[in-house]
Amino acid sequence: MSEVRRVYMDNSATTPVDPEVKEEMMRFFSEEYGNASQMYSLGQNANVALILARERVASLIGAKSTNEIIFNSGGTEGDNTALKGIVLNRKNEKKHLITSEIEHPAILNTSKYLEKSGIKVTYLPVDEFGLVSLEDLKNAITKETALVSIMHANNEIGTIEPIKEMAEITHDAGAVFHTDAVQTVGKIPVDVEELGVDLLSISSHKLYGPKGVGVLYKKQGTRLEPLMHGGGHEKGFRSGTENISGIVGLGKAAELAEKHLPQEQAKLTKMRDKLIDQFLKVKDTRLNGHRTKRLPHNANISFKYVEGEAMILRLDAQGIYASTGSACSTKKLSASHVLLAIGLRPEIAHGSLRLTLGRWTTDDDIDYTLKVVPEVVKDLREMSAYRKDTEEFVMSLKDEGHDDH
Ligand SMILES: Cc1ncc(COP(=O)(O)O)c(C=O)c1O
Repeated sequence: MSEVRRVYMDNSATTPVDPEVKEEMMRFFSEEYGNASQMYSLGQNANVALILARERVASLIGAKSTNEIIFNSGGTEGDNTALKGIVLNRKNEKKHLITSEIEHPAILNTSKYLEKSGIKVTYLPVDEFGLVSLEDLKNAITKETALVSIMHANNEIGTIEPIKEMAEITHDAGAVFHTDAVQTVGKIPVDVEELGVDLLSISSHKLYGPKGVGVLYKKQGTRLEPLMHGGGHEKGFRSGTENISGIVGLGKAAELAEKHLPQEQAKLTKMRDKLIDQFLKVKDTRLNGHRTKRLPHNANISFKYVEGEAMILRLDAQGIYASTGSACSTKKLSASHVLLAIGLRPEIAHGSLRLTLGRWTTDDDIDYTLKVVPEVVKDLREMSAYRKDTEEFVMSLKDEGHDDH
């Protein structure tokens, strides 16, 4: 039996570790295993590795000082620290937080948690492309606002938000600005000075580094309460013996990202556009997210009359790994909060397919995907039980003008 080929199209969920990253990490498991806080040479070797990794990450994001890089366990921790750390630090002065409806659960669920302790949270809506409006932000921000947290690019639909403009509005109102840049660092140029952000979250496993490690960038002078108290590591902002091998891996991944970014961005944009253009030729499809203000590696398409989970399983059987806009919770299929926020009916959101390309995606992979996906869609549509039920919804969506991009 011939082996099914493997086409990994889920690089926004996680990326494989780059072989060069892995190679650099290996030494720090059983040879250079010292604790970076110790004065003897074995400890200092780890400390030197830590310094180099800090420099590499700082260089990738244009940080002014390596003191602005706080290593942690990933995007979820960075987001939690930004929200809780700012709010806790200002709890006697300001009790308002602004975020958006399309954030990752690491932001949304932290916000909900803070609401329970008396913090007022405004969840800004987005337009049909997933963009937050600057006017909405201006209207929502008050003297009471401690923090505004808006993601740099959305993980599902790939829309890139106007961070620089939002950071300016935020600063004019005397608040702190955080962005979850988990999906952008290493994929598009990210310069913290240019963006004007105070805090920014990074996750290593989205840029070909290992899982369980990340960074919270904190602009010098930004007052923040740590979540972890202990031995005072990371200048007191994140105690706990450093995950040296992980940090070394993230450092190497950052160095490689800086080196490869321009070519990779150009290559992926071309591949993405080919996917989008071809898929939109299939009947009853729509593109989710903005056509140009979009991550170079993200294509998100709704195939009407198709159930997303069935599509994912059928693609899996053909060796294609991808995501859909519905998540199976214990009792029911719930449509993606992001797709609902851009105005999709649940029925349409359920039939969406997210393909996210990566460093090792080839032209052959794109061609194979372009061959297999329409076949699977055709098949599923033929057996679709709810085609008739959704027909009405689809028509009303068209009437609302949601179908033109
Ligand atoms: C936008 C965004 N924020 C945060 C996270 C969480 O990052 P981590 O997996 O490193 O905790 C993810 C991961 O999917 C993400 O896509």
